[in-house]
Amino acid sequence: MIAMSNSDASNRHQSLNSLKGEAIAIQGVSKRFGPIVGVDCVDLHVEAGEFLSLLGPSGSGKTTLLMMLAGFEMPSSGSITLGGRDLTHVSPNKRGIGRVFQRYALFPHMSVAQNVAFPLKMRGVRKDEIARLVEQALSRVRLQNYCGRMPAQLSGGQQQRVAVARALVFQPPVLLMDEPLGALDKKLREELQIEIKTLHASLGVTIIYVTHDQEEALTMSDRIAVMDKGRIQQLGSPVSLYHEPSSSFVADFIGKMNFLNGVVTGLDDCRIEIAISGQTFDVARSQIGGREEVAVGRSVRIAARPESLSPTDEGERAIAGEIETSIFLGPHRTLIVRTEDGTQLQIQVPSSHRDSGVTPRGRTFVRLDPAAVRVFAREA
Ligand SMILES: Nc1ncnc2c1ncn2[C@@H]1O[C@H](COP(=O)(O)OP(=O)(O)OP(=O)(O)O)[C@@H](O)[C@H]1O
Ligand SMILES: [Mg+2]
Repeated sequence: MIAMSNSDASNRHQSLNSLKGEAIAIQGVSKRFGPIVGVDCVDLHVEAGEFLSLLGPSGSGKTTLLMMLAGFEMPSSGSITLGGRDLTHVSPNKRGIGRVFQRYALFPHMSVAQNVAFPLKMRGVRKDEIARLVEQALSRVRLQNYCGRMPAQLSGGQQQRVAVARALVFQPPVLLMDEPLGALDKKLREELQIEIKTLHASLGVTIIYVTHDQEEALTMSDRIAVMDKGRIQQLGSPVSLYHEPSSSFVADFIGKMNFLNGVVTGLDDCRIEIAISGQTFDVARSQIGGREEVAVGRSVRIAARPESLSPTDEGERAIAGEIETSIFLGPHRTLIVRTEDGTQLQIQVPSSHRDSGVTPRGRTFVRLDPAAVRVFAREA
């Protein structure tokens, strides 16, 4: 069990209002399961108090990395430190890390208050202190009036809020969350995203949050590590990942993205000229994603967000196409346009109260904002 004296415990458990996050350093961490590589040489420094998301498709290694931070999996190689302390040989319960996972891991036979009190009991905190801290933790997730309820008498969202209160009640410097909202419906998920983000901002705890939902990662994170095949493909702020993806994988994974085929027709030290559907566009070399080599004659993929394309009647410096359909989405409309080479594009146009609801159809030209695109080499 957890060895911590009463005085230790009560010193650390004074108030949930003054949680202090700690930095995490992951260095060269890999995890192999026999021949399978779950996590492949990950280096990641998470700052104290940061909200960092691990985002990636299924099987990309997010949970495996989190499990090594929690101490439930041992790295095959590499090291993990928390606030400068080496965690490699520290058991999960002694790491002082809070955890919330996808399935509501509440104890079904314990009331809400007993669930939240559990980590404090394990740490030998005094009874009156437990009562005070449990109340404080439950009011932070707005469930102070639910102390006596059993988990089965709560909604999914309420159960996850209890799980958050239980993870935070012993004031861990770090909170690990693995798809904590995965089982909830979209509206509730969005509400709880804001709630967790607000809680994070007011507490100062370091949060590492696993999700495969890019919108969720964009909403909540200070930084996002995009994972694929056990590696971090790109690490950056939501804004930089959205506008400056370094690979077509990241470009495609974050937000909606259109890809157009083009050919490099000219280049100098600062600019490249690209032909797309017989039209030429001039873009800065800084818009080339990653470390891609470009040369005249090279085939490229041009990534353009739906909001950087617009329909126009004029054919000059625009790509000809046919509007196939359009979708009304409240604040904007998405036009689906098929270009002459068969590429399907999504174009976002603002909608207004004057939107007639009639789908515009027929021939159009698509203007592209050359300053807003990213250019990637096309794989052979
Ligand atoms: N105990 C294990 N034994 C063998 N292979 C494993 C084990 N745990 C994970 N893996 C493999 O490691 C890789 C990463 O798995 P992981 O669970 O970390 O992915 P994930 O990104 O969390 O995916 P998801 O979004 O589906 O939860 C996968 O190929 C998976 O099959
Ligand atoms: Mg997982």
